[in-house]
Amino acid sequence: KMDSFISGLMGKMTVEEKIGQLNLVTGGEAVTGSVVSTGVESKIKAGQIGGIFSMSSPAKIRAAQELAVNNSRLGIPIIFGMDVIHGYKTMFPIPLGLAATWDMNLIRESARIAAVEATADGLNWTFSPMVDISRDPRWGRISEGSGEDTYLSARIASEMVKGYQGDDLAANNTLMACVKHFALYGAAESGRDYNTTDMSLHRMYNEYLPPYKAALDAGAGTVMASFNDINGVPATANKWLLTDLLRNQWGFDGMVVTDYTGINELVDHGLGNLQTVSARALQAGVHMDMVGEGFLTTLKQSLDEGKVSPAEIDNACRLVLETKYKLGLFDDPYRYCNEKRAKDNILTPNHLAKAREVAAKSFVLLKNDQQTLPLKKSGIIALIGPLADTRANMPGTWSVSADLANTPSLLEGMRAALGDKVKVVHHLGANLLSDAQYQERATMFGRTIPRDERPEQEIIAEALQVAKSADVIVAALGESSEMSGESSSRTDLDIPATQKRLLEALLQTGKPVVLVLFAGRPLTLTWENEHVPAILNVWFGGTETGKAVADVLFGDVNPSGKLPATFPQNVGQIPLYYSAKTTGRPLAEGAWFQKFRSNYLDVTNEPLFPFGYGLSYSSFTYSDIQLSQTNLSPGEKITATVTVKNNGAFDGEEVVQLYLRDIYASITRPVKELKGFQKIFLKKGESRKVSFEIGVDDLKFYNNELQWVAEPGDFKLFIGANSRDVKEAQFSFN
Ligand code: IFM
Repeated sequence: KMDSFISGLMGKMTVEEKIGQLNLVTGGEAVTGSVVSTGVESKIKAGQIGGIFSMSSPAKIRAAQELAVNNSRLGIPIIFGMDVIHGYKTMFPIPLGLAATWDMNLIRESARIAAVEATADGLNWTFSPMVDISRDPRWGRISEGSGEDTYLSARIASEMVKGYQGDDLAANNTLMACVKHFALYGAAESGRDYNTTDMSLHRMYNEYLPPYKAALDAGAGTVMASFNDINGVPATANKWLLTDLLRNQWGFDGMVVTDYTGINELVDHGLGNLQTVSARALQAGVHMDMVGEGFLTTLKQSLDEGKVSPAEIDNACRLVLETKYKLGLFDDPYRYCNEKRAKDNILTPNHLAKAREVAAKSFVLLKNDQQTLPLKKSGIIALIGPLADTRANMPGTWSVSADLANTPSLLEGMRAALGDKVKVVHHLGANLLSDAQYQERATMFGRTIPRDERPEQEIIAEALQVAKSADVIVAALGESSEMSGESSSRTDLDIPATQKRLLEALLQTGKPVVLVLFAGRPLTLTWENEHVPAILNVWFGGTETGKAVADVLFGDVNPSGKLPATFPQNVGQIPLYYSAKTTGRPLAEGAWFQKFRSNYLDVTNEPLFPFGYGLSYSSFTYSDIQLSQTNLSPGEKITATVTVKNNGAFDGEEVVQLYLRDIYASITRPVKELKGFQKIFLKKGESRKVSFEIGVDDLKFYNNELQWVAEPGDFKLFIGANSRDVKEAQFSFN
């Protein structure tokens, strides 16, 4: 039915109208490049717009849709997109924080809630999930993905797509997903945004591509091409990537959209003028051009000159129309425009309760000496720091739709959660950054962080006066939300020096100090780890951050988040990730320094906090691993079992992690690879057997010929609380 409907429609379309469908413009609510769409109204009427993004509310969207339906020649409805990345108006933690929950149900639910809210506000397409693996925390966009690991990211990608799209794309409360940024954007050289990537094929296939594939296998309807160059050809012009791999090998049959002015940027990449690069992008496998209008302004000429074929334009147009068809827009172009739904379905008590739960579960307890935490629900807390009383900082990066009026600051949220049981006093304590210009760059999008221009010593002295009366100091420090995310790469990953000096002064009071750390990436916390008794990494937790922080600090929720990315000791170790190769000169385990071995003179090879790490108020112990058999043959499964015991005084959740190592293979293999995990709840004193089944598929990898194989030989199997602290067993496959 879809095919014949679209063929019929295309039969009536002029070439110009077909090219018009390939044009995606911005409604202006989030501008992330130097170009802004103009003349949108007249272009809609002329049939020159296929989609609009960054426009919201049923009223605005209805008005634009009416123009298309009633005033363009063929009345083709518009698709409306938005970066709904980690919530719509009810904001959830940034994706890196969501990943830290390791809770697939919660992640799917958060995407479902985002879809319910966004579709209630007129939207039908989201530029999410972002599944770029990144092992370089200098890259600001590490905050938007699920971290460093292939397996965890792939699992999350799949859940997010299911959450957005549900099982009926045409329903009025489901959003079409767009998996991005295809591909390898997270491997940008030196962590600088938009930079080049260059990678071996087997690394791509084994480590970087699986999350995109998982999102597509879960049904993601669209794909966004990335900005970066891949082995010499930018993704937007990369036929191997967008056609050979995506369509021919993987069988994807949906639409590919560029990133913001991605086609125009091919000119700066040095591939030719706008006409040349637009033709090249179309022929590579791009169907929709975001903002740059290279397609709109040059494809007709290229067609007339025989540089692109009518079939190539038809193919792109068909895929755009199919996308709209799948969303039900041809049945009812206004199916997402319902003011009542917008009023009833956004920021509901249920959504906010879920946001609070997810936020609390995303926090990672990095350190808790002498049970500094949880705090007693009495007395006075001094909440000090530049991030303590700013609503703007709560939602985190990519939160265009966030409703700051309904987003309590940390101070407001904590006070609301604690009522009059605990008195919370507050002071700014320090500026976010010493350099006013840097602070301005780090707080773009109007997300201003308060600044006090008095001498630093004066500000700190005043903060110490406020802290004097307190029983405990909670220091709210770290990054502002715009210090991570797009175009927010950093070469120094320390807590900014102004804030560190404040922290030192707070520690000198001799009172217990808890560092509540805001961060969109792994930071280098070596000094803090040495000096601060308790560190709770809260990422950017979304709308209900403040209440969730109170829940965790005061023990109503036992922290269970685990790091989805390695925290290095210093920037010089980057890239540092747990699934590295051994090298031909590995350092003996636990050793440092050995001449002519792979190590550094000045620091060990170890991370500060490994992948998968996170403490609880309880402590969990692991028994040795029991294997059902030590030989695996095709068609069989080995069951690996450990007993996990909650030895602490609190009920709590633990993420039990399974890793494998292929000891000898035809290509070098990682020293450990995550292959499974289970998040379990144990009451205090309770123990439980946790089992994982390992089959031949779990041993497979892409070899040098890119064949998906399991090679016979010996394997190590590890189970533990993080990628470092594990029990070990061995089996063989033959
Ligand atoms: O979806 C985003 C992308 O991640 C970065 N550039 C802009 C796009 C649309 O806002």
